[in-house]
Amino acid sequence: MPLQPEPLYTVQAIQQRVQELAGEITAEYFDAPPLCLITLKGAMHFGSDLLRAMDLPVEIDFIRAQSYSDTQSTGMVELLYTPTSTLQGRAVLLIEDIIDTGRTALALREWLQEQGTAECRIVTLLDKSARREVDIQADFIGFSIEDHFVVGFGMDYNEQYRELPDIRIWET
Ligand code: IMP
Ligand code: MG
Repeated sequence: MPLQPEPLYTVQAIQQRVQELAGEITAEYFDAPPLCLITLKGAMHFGSDLLRAMDLPVEIDFIRAQSYSDTQSTGMVELLYTPTSTLQGRAVLLIEDIIDTGRTALALREWLQEQGTAECRIVTLLDKSARREVDIQADFIGFSIEDHFVVGFGMDYNEQYRELPDIRIWET
């Protein structure tokens, strides 16, 4: 059975970590709340929970990228949706579900820089640093994980399992 029945992170473990991250981020941005960009689709649940646990009057928008790295071609990243908010001069907090090779996060950060944002910090729920191919690091990390493919809590395998409330390992 490819989907492990036992969660890697339970609903409780996720919520506990989200609360902690929200506290850190609230303290960090107390003076100047950022524009929060939830990366679709993977960070939908994480972003929603995190933003509601933070105590900051933020503006919320979305960004969506598609990566072709897993089709073993180029690691090219295409933007499928870009924020309608003003980006020029803004401090942006990019909310990611997982950073794997790092190509998606790097492409998003570079695109945001091109739009004239003043700064871009990244919060990711999961960090798979063993697989990094480019130089990028998140500023806030929920959990650092080994080289497993995971699904649930927004993350998918071929668009399946995003609705799971916990995070499970998908055995490939
Ligand atoms: P990147 O390799 O850091 O560019 O990550 C690209 C995208 O691959 C992420 O935004 C996720 O959508 C997806 N991804 C990477 N690792 C996993 C995983 O373990 N489970 C589900 N999606 C993943
Ligand atoms: Mg995906």
